[in-house]
Amino acid sequence: MYVPDKVVTNKDLEKLIDTSDQWIMERTGIRQRHLVSEGEANSDLAIQAAQHALRKANVKAEELDLIIVATVTPDMMFPCTACVIQNKLGAKKAWGFDLSGACSGFLYALVTAAQFIETGTYKKVLVIGSDVMSSIIDFEDRATCVLFGDGAGAVVLEPTEEDGIGILDSILAADGSGGTFLYMPAGGSRRPASIETVQKKMHYVHQDGKNVFKYAVKLMAEVSHEVLARNGFGTEDVKLYVPHQANMRIITAAKDRLKLRDDQVAVNIDRYANTTAATIPSCLAEAQDCGRLQRGDLILLASFGAGFTWGSVLLKWAID
Ligand SMILES: CC(C)(COP(=O)(O)OP(=O)(O)OC[C@H]1O[C@@H](n2cnc3c(N)ncnc32)[C@H](O)[C@@H]1OP(=O)(O)O)[C@@H](O)C(=O)NCCC(=O)NCCS
Repeated sequence: MYVPDKVVTNKDLEKLIDTSDQWIMERTGIRQRHLVSEGEANSDLAIQAAQHALRKANVKAEELDLIIVATVTPDMMFPCTACVIQNKLGAKKAWGFDLSGACSGFLYALVTAAQFIETGTYKKVLVIGSDVMSSIIDFEDRATCVLFGDGAGAVVLEPTEEDGIGILDSILAADGSGGTFLYMPAGGSRRPASIETVQKKMHYVHQDGKNVFKYAVKLMAEVSHEVLARNGFGTEDVKLYVPHQANMRIITAAKDRLKLRDDQVAVNIDRYANTTAATIPSCLAEAQDCGRLQRGDLILLASFGAGFTWGSVLLKWAID
């Protein structure tokens, strides 16, 4: 994983908007977030995370077959960030694309990548979740600007001959009728950038926080339960539950519905806020780095995001 150097605390935000450290902590569980500095873009974060992942996996960039970048904040509309990264990494053999799944982007990308591995088409796929939410946040809107941070996480997928290890099952879902609860109205072909769209602040995240909250709790808990049950597992079998990090109260509500203990749940929202496609891989990287994961551990990933999009992935950790 990688986050930019600049740390912005709740106290720092108190100087910009009418908010308080206490309100943000109580309503979201966020203490601070890392934000890019001027000139730093998505691919700069993504490359750092990718290089860490490649080193850990002992894989060279030239060996990669495919690069998938989950993001809603690419360096630019085109070419895709995956091509920028392919070039900077020197991954000459790889092709790649960006995938727009918002906060579910990493799970969408992970499951897509797994298909290429399972069919035997490819041997090494790099999956990156990377977002620079500060580039589309209105820092005068206190209801959204306190929630997000910038960051990247990456994993390398490879085939295994061993039964029952790696990705076991997944459920991905979408409901486009939830589209306007969380979206960026302008900048696409519907409303291209103009003086009017800029003046009306249409290039920023617009959100109905209460509705997003409600659906996030319900759907993340349901999909997590469903993927466990259809594979014959109970929540007591889960070593680590890695939910998307949008709000500590959403994480706690999902945890309670699933009847999980605190020590089964990965949390890093307090330090990084909601980094959109990067929350799940960054939690995995932290868990791996602090020795929390052993080979064969059952891990349950779950996400919910704009679209609406949501999903869960059940896996057994494959790394010693
Ligand atoms: C945004 C969110 C934190 C707001 O929390 P909430 O408990 O629903 O708060 P409300 O919207 O009821 O707002 C309560 C009050 O706090 C105020 N408020 C909002 N942001 C504030 C802030 N940063 N500081 C202080 N007050 C704030 C509101 O203006 C409102 O004031 P009012 O009652 O005078 O109108 C919460 O709805 C949320 O996390 N939603 C999900 C968002 C999300 O996860 N998005 C990404 C999904 S992937």
